[in-house]
Amino acid sequence: MTATTSTGTTRRPRREQLLTPDQLELVRATRGFMPDDEGEALHRAAVLAARSALGPLLEVGTYCGKSALYLGFGAGPAGATVFSVDHHRGSEENQAGWEHHDASLVDAETGRMDTLPLARRALERAGLESTVVLVVGPSTVVAAAWAAPLALLFIDGGHGSDVAWDDYRAWVPKVAPGGMLAIHDVFPDPADGGRPPYEIFCAALRSGDFVEAPELSCGSLRVLRSARLSRRGAAPSRAGPGR
Ligand SMILES: C[S@@+](CC[C@H](N)C(=O)[O-])C[C@H]1O[C@@H](n2cnc3c(N)ncnc32)[C@H](O)[C@@H]1O
Repeated sequence: MTATTSTGTTRRPRREQLLTPDQLELVRATRGFMPDDEGEALHRAAVLAARSALGPLLEVGTYCGKSALYLGFGAGPAGATVFSVDHHRGSEENQAGWEHHDASLVDAETGRMDTLPLARRALERAGLESTVVLVVGPSTVVAAAWAAPLALLFIDGGHGSDVAWDDYRAWVPKVAPGGMLAIHDVFPDPADGGRPPYEIFCAALRSGDFVEAPELSCGSLRVLRSARLSRRGAAPSRAGPGR
């Protein structure tokens, strides 16, 4: 099928870029907190963001690299770079005694969490070392020195109130006009999960700078588009996956 552009020329819609069976096997074998369907939605958003060429993609919260693989497999073919920020010491809920603690991620020598070796190994196994760049450090420290406008910002760092709001304030202004903002673990019903990711999602909508993109969202992964005009003067595209 073809589409006619405003200049009268015809254009073939781009084929949908799906994860290959090998890529799916790699992401499923990587530890993390991203259900398959939400990961595939994140991958679709990454494909579109990379094709927009508005800038690099950035995630806050690498953990062991699972979501970074979805982003990298989505962004790589268009030549975009994904930066993935984490101090690799785990969030509050990853520490000993908390619900999401994994004792095998504790460094035997220091007694502290260290997810960096697993994230590096995941990227190496996936062949994504030149696409996904790990940035090791506290999110707000990295943000303070970050200048590049982002085609896609994915927030999945600490889920405590202070940390989530710090990430929101530090990183959201860096989304490029026309770019995307994705937030994980957005639960409107408090019975389903913690409030801070939902609160920052609501704040982004309330700001008027973003509109929700339900066609790109899935489960607790909510995707928004910048409502500001891109540098090219075009309104943010409403295109779904495959365009
Ligand atoms: C929910 S996990 C990320 C899961 C990952 N996106 C996935 O899907 O597999 C949150 C991560 O955020 C990191 N984190 C929490 N607070 C942080 C902060 N202030 N700066 C940098 N990283 C932080 C933790 O170390 C942890 O690895």
